[in-house]
Amino acid sequence: MLHNIAILTGGGDAPGLNAVIRAAVKTAKVQYGAHILGIPDGYDGLVNGSDPWELDLPEVAGLLYRGGTILGTSNRGDPFNYPVEQPDGTVIKEDKSEILIERLKELRVDALIVIGGDGSLTIANELFKRGTNVIGVPKTIDNDLSATEVTFGFDTAITTATEALDKLHTTAESHHRAMVLELMGRDAGWIALESGIAGGADVILIPEIPFKWSSVMKRIDDRRKKGRKFSIIVVAEGAFPEGGGQVVQQTADETHGLARFGGIGHAVGLEIAKQLKMETRVTVLGHIQRGGKPSTFDRLLATRLGVEAVNMVVRGEFGHMVALRGGKVIPVPLEEAVGNQKLVDPNGQMVMVAESIGISVGR
Ligand code: F6P
Repeated sequence: MLHNIAILTGGGDAPGLNAVIRAAVKTAKVQYGAHILGIPDGYDGLVNGSDPWELDLPEVAGLLYRGGTILGTSNRGDPFNYPVEQPDGTVIKEDKSEILIERLKELRVDALIVIGGDGSLTIANELFKRGTNVIGVPKTIDNDLSATEVTFGFDTAITTATEALDKLHTTAESHHRAMVLELMGRDAGWIALESGIAGGADVILIPEIPFKWSSVMKRIDDRRKKGRKFSIIVVAEGAFPEGGGQVVQQTADETHGLARFGGIGHAVGLEIAKQLKMETRVTVLGHIQRGGKPSTFDRLLATRLGVEAVNMVVRGEFGHMVALRGGKVIPVPLEEAVGNQKLVDPNGQMVMVAESIGISVGR
């Protein structure tokens, strides 16, 4: 009998995190009478010895539609490579995993549920190898985890991005402008591709297909020649031109974690204005994509994953992650799930759909 389950959220927030927490707490309490401890601020909370708190039914009431995570999260601070600032301002990485494991013992945690993306689940897998009873729950708005068909947060993000495109259309049409929308996704173009199709974009640029400037310009110019004086260009933050590189605000060395993307939208906007002498405006949707209440789809998926994560704890299926496959929620080994990015296939069906209806992907 497991008495103490701890739960943490790691990496960037995503709509649906609270819905997973709610479902896990309800299942643990109502079905199994177990205790659930909420760990604050992801793995950081364990390394720093922050006080967890017990999650009971009142704590999760009203959580279903709340964005973010009531537990707090962090996408810095890998416990195996923990950045520690030195007196001279330099940062060195230290292995703090033992502190974390000791803390779990101190808290008498029988099992740890980690809700996170690839980075947090990789750490979860390492902790499992060192003897921690871990269950993973995949999340990311980027939808770039190959072990699961879709991650919660993605549907909400593309819905938000599609609504933004609907709104940009009005100004584009009224002012005969090129409107560029830069979207998130890191190295994966899912958000840009799917919301671009749904939002009626004319050009969609994704990291999986390095683009030709000439193809981008041709598509916009062809439209102009046909009397369509405006164009909508969706640019994934990780997109880059052939022979060029990705645009980042901060490198991985500077963040002590992952590089921070941003800027390709403005580069594309400037080039369109210069080459086509066209009024161009750029919008960077940014964290709006991660915020707000989860869509119905994400609430359902998050709830299914939260319930099954607790069932897996009870069945002792540690070292596994809940995944959606063939419409069913099933356990898959973390080892198989991590480090296996799901990127857009440049010759896959979704890109073909885009090209079939005249969208340029810049090739
Ligand atoms: O992985 C989710 C994500 O939103 C990416 O799409 C984006 O590049 C990144 O996180 C932004 O991270 P931060 O919140 O640290 O700026």
